[in-house]
Amino acid sequence: MKSAIRISLALGAGLVASAGLAQTMGPVTGDVSEGAQLYYDHGCYQCHGYFGYGRQDLNNTGSPFLINEDVFRSFLRARADVAPLLPSTSMPNYPANSLTDEMVQDIYAYIRSMPSNRPETASVPTLQAILRSGERPYRP
Ligand code: HEC
Repeated sequence: MKSAIRISLALGAGLVASAGLAQTMGPVTGDVSEGAQLYYDHGCYQCHGYFGYGRQDLNNTGSPFLINEDVFRSFLRARADVAPLLPSTSMPNYPANSLTDEMVQDIYAYIRSMPSNRPETASVPTLQAILRSGERPYRP
């Protein structure tokens, strides 16, 4: 039973993915700055990074779940229903009583506004400082 559900979910995701290839991205109707705050308040940044690159990248990934607002909302909502059957997934669930439709639109707007590429290592001062300190000889 569980594997049948997994297979149908995979097929569903595949259909969305192949539809996504042919489609262009949907319109953005939410508010980017509200979305940035929500992205922070609801902890998305903890796994997806402040700018969409993290454990699971969100920027410029061609993810079928980001093709438009409806699919994105369904992705967040559906997880609330299917996640208990998919214990391997570690993303929290976001049902409507946690993120309203309007909040989802704002977060979607923020994700769509993210820079499309990771910054070059050389352009991140903190990372450069960490790299420099790692080059110092170890003298306890
Ligand atoms: C505890 C970590 C965690 C948090 C918090 C989290 N996510 Fe995720 N997210 C993941 C992981 C892991 C995946 C990939 C596997 C999966 O789908 O579960 C994912 C996948 C996604 C995807 C699909 C990406 C793709 O390439 O198809 C989107 C979109 C997304 N998350 C949006 C969000 C948003 C918006 C929030 C906040 C409201 C959020 N996530 C919070 C861990 C997290």
